[in-house]
Amino acid sequence: MEQLDPDKLPRHVAIIMDGNGRWAKRRALTRLVGHQKGTESVRDIVRTSRELGIKWLTLYAFSEENWKRPSYEVKALMGLLNRYLKSELKEMMDNGIRLACIGQTEKLPPEVQRTLWQTIEKTEHNTEMTLTLALSYGGRQEIVQAVKKMLEDIEKGTLHVKRITEERLSEYLYTADTPDPDLLIRTSGEYRISNFLLWQVAYTEIFITPTLWPDFRKERYLEALLDYQKRERRFGSTGEQTIHPE
Ligand code: IPE
Ligand code: IPE
Ligand code: MG
Repeated sequence: MEQLDPDKLPRHVAIIMDGNGRWAKRRALTRLVGHQKGTESVRDIVRTSRELGIKWLTLYAFSEENWKRPSYEVKALMGLLNRYLKSELKEMMDNGIRLACIGQTEKLPPEVQRTLWQTIEKTEHNTEMTLTLALSYGGRQEIVQAVKKMLEDIEKGTLHVKRITEERLSEYLYTADTPDPDLLIRTSGEYRISNFLLWQVAYTEIFITPTLWPDFRKERYLEALLDYQKRERRFGSTGEQTIHPE
């Protein structure tokens, strides 16, 4: 396999972890087994990201729309999340991984919220990598809450309409302190964003693979990163300008 260029790694990778259900169905197993297998991929991808020196990793673990799923599946996913957080604390501490979350986390079951905030607190001084879990997350909902907060600040007089810029608006999003993703990976072959980081992916490179999430391990991930390194990111400029910046 070709070698990755350590100087051209994405600073921030965001992943839509999709296909657990189909993975299980193909094996005549329950969807829950697929989700369990999926957490092994999470472990592998977090570890690999850290080894490579990727600074920001954001994982779409549960969307705002996923609350529509049957309650037993939601319950099982919440249980898995709770267990994952507890079992990974040591690895996060040993490897300097800081945990963060985005989304309407106040909707999560109290026990999960407790574990989540405890883990965030315990890992807050780790500086090697930030692992952000998107939980009860929706990009549109994120923008709506940002607009509400901005209007409140305008009413209070701490924000002025004329001062609203792209940067200012970004500060009102859950991702305020996070750079925009350089690479967005979606597993399971669906060509859609499913309400993930709508504002933030404006110029993100997108990689879609048919591999189902439980099968997406280190090797597949390295392939995605290699593919990313071959892209020419233009941000609206011409190809010539990108190759020979002024
Ligand atoms: C991703 O796998 C996990 C979550 C969305 C929580 P799915 O459960 O969506 O799996 P498919 O898409 O049904 O195969
Ligand atoms: C997106 O997957 C959400 C997560 C991976 C958490 P879904 O399976 O919920 O997306 P759709 O419904 O296929 O768009
Ligand atoms: Mg899905």
